[in-house]
Order: sequence, then structure tokens, then C-alpha cells
Amino acid sequence: MSILEIDDLKKMARRRVPKMFFDYADSGAWTEGTYRANEEDLRKIKLRQRVLVDMSDRSLESTMIGEKVAMPVALAPTGMTGMQHPDGEILAAQAAEAFGVPFTLSTMSICSIEDVAENTTKPFWFQLYVLKDRSFVYNLIDRAKAAKCSALVLTLDLQILGQRHKDLRNGLSAPPKFTPKHVWQVATRPRWAFGMLGTQRRTFRNIVGHAKGVGDLASLSSWTTEQFDTKLSWKDVEWIKERWGGKLILKGINDVEDAEMAARTGADAIVVSNHGGRQLDGAPSSISMVEPIVDAVGDRIEVHMDGGIRSGQDVLKALCLGAKGTYIGRPFLYGLGAMGKDGVTKALEIIRKEMDTTLALCGKRLITQASRDMLHR
Ligand SMILES: Cc1cc2nc3c(=O)[nH]c(=O)nc-3n(C[C@H](O)[C@H](O)[C@H](O)COP(=O)(O)O)c2cc1C
Repeated sequence: MSILEIDDLKKMARRRVPKMFFDYADSGAWTEGTYRANEEDLRKIKLRQRVLVDMSDRSLESTMIGEKVAMPVALAPTGMTGMQHPDGEILAAQAAEAFGVPFTLSTMSICSIEDVAENTTKPFWFQLYVLKDRSFVYNLIDRAKAAKCSALVLTLDLQILGQRHKDLRNGLSAPPKFTPKHVWQVATRPRWAFGMLGTQRRTFRNIVGHAKGVGDLASLSSWTTEQFDTKLSWKDVEWIKERWGGKLILKGINDVEDAEMAARTGADAIVVSNHGGRQLDGAPSSISMVEPIVDAVGDRIEVHMDGGIRSGQDVLKALCLGAKGTYIGRPFLYGLGAMGKDGVTKALEIIRKEMDTTLALCGKRLITQASRDMLHR
């Protein structure tokens, strides 16, 4: 099968990853309306076709929070990536490193901060969820520092878990349960199953053995309900910033007023995001919030965006609207589920090629020249 677009990787991942984990990636909260809107609204934006301009010597190189990137597309933090493919976080981090884009490790990862650090050579970014157990959070921040992570991505939009029907229906857990349904799902994906037998990394290794009283984390949702801090406030950003002491990115802003608050914290960047439609169903798509947020705070803080990016054209549209960088979640997860590390590389290559050609057909040579006058409005 020739793999030409992200959707090809998605189809292959569906065949290779047990249903409960494939569905975990390909799902949004409740009606999945916001999940769909993220993609649909990007598709509605039209690019201006320009001709007879010099399109030689093109470059997609740019910077995100001052770091040089081969293209302004980072890998978003995604929980349980090591369940899409054995050792998934390590493989994705290696693919990102070789490609020259940032990799962000989730707090809810299967491979730990230390696992990824030991298997990569350049700094990666670490995403933090603030949990009630503050000594555990302090320790996580310190572990990310010790691993030389070059940015902390603080996620603000998950103080309470949005409900995804598919996960509840599938009885999602890591490692999978041993009910007949789950055994069947795993047995019908032998490549995945054998791979999993070959690794020790099958649970939440940032947490198990590090948080008090957590020896085993069978159910993500019950632990999340207990541990995620519903009282988290803007005040908390201060001590986190202070304790971390490095580059800070605030993720999960989807409103102009919140963007104003975020800009006042002195963080280095914000990510316009609705968690890939996994939290507030009914929220506007993230692409529709980029322009108003950039207009409100873009002169004070770097604005990134994620949600719904499935092609290089999508990245370009976000940049034209004023985002300095973007992130992909599902596209790299599908690549990983389909073909491991090579699949992540493939996802990045597809997006790079699409972006490069699209840039040329829009009459520009440098991605850093992306601007609103490249769009039909
Ligand atoms: C399977 C999955 C798990 C995720 N886990 C996390 C997480 O642990 N932390 C976080 O900040 N965001 C998480 N997200 C949200 C992503 O970081 C990102 O905002 C989203 O995937 C972007 O949308 P896209 O998948 O359409 O590219 C997750 C998303 C997916 C699809």
C-alpha cells in the first residue's frame, strides 16, 4: 500500500493497533463536535494561488521559543503513546530528533522521562499535569530538569476529564485488562502483542513507583478523577514557573480573555488548543481562535496552535493566521501505530512535502514569510 497522506497512516494504524488504543487516539469528548470542527474549519480556509514568482531555494526552517526547528511542527504531548506501539514515546522522540522538530513527552506517558532521555541525544520538551500530590509534582519538575528538557509545557485544560464514550465502552486501561473482549482485541493484533511482550514499558512509568501509594495504575480515569487538581489557578503558574526556571509554554488556551491572563504570567508561549476536542465539546475549533488570540496578545507572547492539523496545508494556514508554531497529535500517533518510528518519520515527511509545495504554489519561498495576505478572505 502506498502511503501518501496522513489518512493512509490512520487506516494502517486501525488495522495494527488494538481497538481500545486506536479508539483512544481517534476520539473526542461527548458528541465529538469540537474534535470534528478542528479539522473541518481548517479545510474551509482557502489559500491564494499565485503564479510566476521565484520559488527556488525554499526553506521551512523556523524557530519555536527560540529553538531552531526544521519546520514549525512539534509533536504534541499524548498520553499512553507507548500503547500505540511498544516503546512508542522513545521511538517518536527519536524520529522527531532525527527530523529536527521538538518532541513533547506527556506526564501520562508509558515511557518515563528517564527512558526517553537515555534513548535520545538532544533535549526534548516535557508536558506537566498538575496533580494534587504536590511533592510528586515538584519531583516531576526536578526530574524533567535533570533530564535536561528544554521546555516545560504546562497543560491548563484538564483539571477535570472530558468524557469520551469510546473509552468507557472499550473499558480502556493500560496494561489492557484480561476480559475476553480485551484478550480478543490484543490477539487479533499479533504484531503489536509480540512487540509488547518484548518490552517492560507497559504502564505509566512517570508515575508508578514515583507517586506515593501508586504501585499499579490500572484505571486511568479513576486515578485522574482522584489526582487532577480541580483547584488549580493562575497563581499556581507562578510557583511552577519559578521552580522550573526555564522556558515555559502554557497549553490549552482557547479564549481571548485567558490568552490575556496567560500573557501576563511571563511565559514564553501559549498553545491555542482545545486538547484535540477531547475536553469541552462545543468549544470553537482551535484554528478559529488563532486570529483573535494573535491580535490580542501576539505582540507580547509567542502563539502556537494545535488541533486538527492533518496536512502541510493546514500548518501553513495556521501560520498565515499568525501562529509561530504548530503541534500534531493524532497524525504522529497514527504513524507510530502503523509503522513505529518509521511511521512517525513518514508522518513528518508527508507534512513537510505538502507544506513545501503549498508554500511554492502560494508564491512564497520562506515559511517565515507566511502571512494573512496569503489567504482568501
Ligand atoms: C491520544 C491523545 C492523548 C493526549 N494526551 C495528552 C496529554 O497527556 N497531555 C496533553 O497536554 N495533551 C494531550 N493530548 C492533546 C494533544 O496534546 C493535542 O492538544 C491534540 O492531540 C492536538 O490535536 P490533533 O490530535 O488533532 O493534532 C492528547 C491527545 C490525544 C489524541
